[in-house]
Amino acid sequence: IEDKPLAGQKILITAGPTREALDPVRYMTNHSSGKMGYAIAEAAAVKGAEVTLISGPVTLEKPNNLKKYIQIESAEEMFTAVKDNLKDQNIIIKSAAVADYRPEVYVDKKIKKSDEDFKLTLTRNPDILKWIGMHKTPEQLIVGFAAETNDVMENGISKLKKKNIDMIIVNDVTRADAGFGTDTNCVTLIDKKGNKKAYPVMPKKQLAHSILDYIIANF
Ligand code: C5P
Repeated sequence: IEDKPLAGQKILITAGPTREALDPVRYMTNHSSGKMGYAIAEAAAVKGAEVTLISGPVTLEKPNNLKKYIQIESAEEMFTAVKDNLKDQNIIIKSAAVADYRPEVYVDKKIKKSDEDFKLTLTRNPDILKWIGMHKTPEQLIVGFAAETNDVMENGISKLKKKNIDMIIVNDVTRADAGFGTDTNCVTLIDKKGNKKAYPVMPKKQLAHSILDYIIANF
């Protein structure tokens, strides 16, 4: 039990960006590399959990010893994959950087350029984490991430409440050693009891174990 503290626990993790297509050759996305989520998936498997990883398009190797690995592209595909796999999960960790908007219409042939400007209308994607917060069972533990550029703690606390989740991990993405694409991260963890824990800058792989250790010790 000591070296497999998550044995018997089912964990669902989302990671990476989403890709929102405009036509067959163009899409919108963000700078998420998937490194934090993949590190958590790998660490959870090492600790004995049954891990389901739902991933957007990334260039990372699939972690070892997953129970299930689902690759998706868009936020809507991620939402479907989450809903299909939510039942029976004990812990849900949403580290994916889901696009908040997608092009309102998908044009199935390449859009031709003209000399005019092109106006693109975006429509809201579902907030997957908020949906999970609304539909979770009392036994399920829900963890979200918040990438912020300002008022980091205030925004983190307000998201924790708005999304009805148990814990949020906030990072200041304006730091060079934290956030998108880096191998290190610098985060503060806030749980719904109001406990706060600030971690020093550390490798995402090590931070993944620290976050899971916090969950093991506190929930
Ligand atoms: O509201 P914000 O996007 O900052 O919240 C970030 C958290 O919400 C992350 O855990 C992210 O995975 C999740 N999220 C989501 N669906 C969205 C937007 C964010 O699940 N459409």
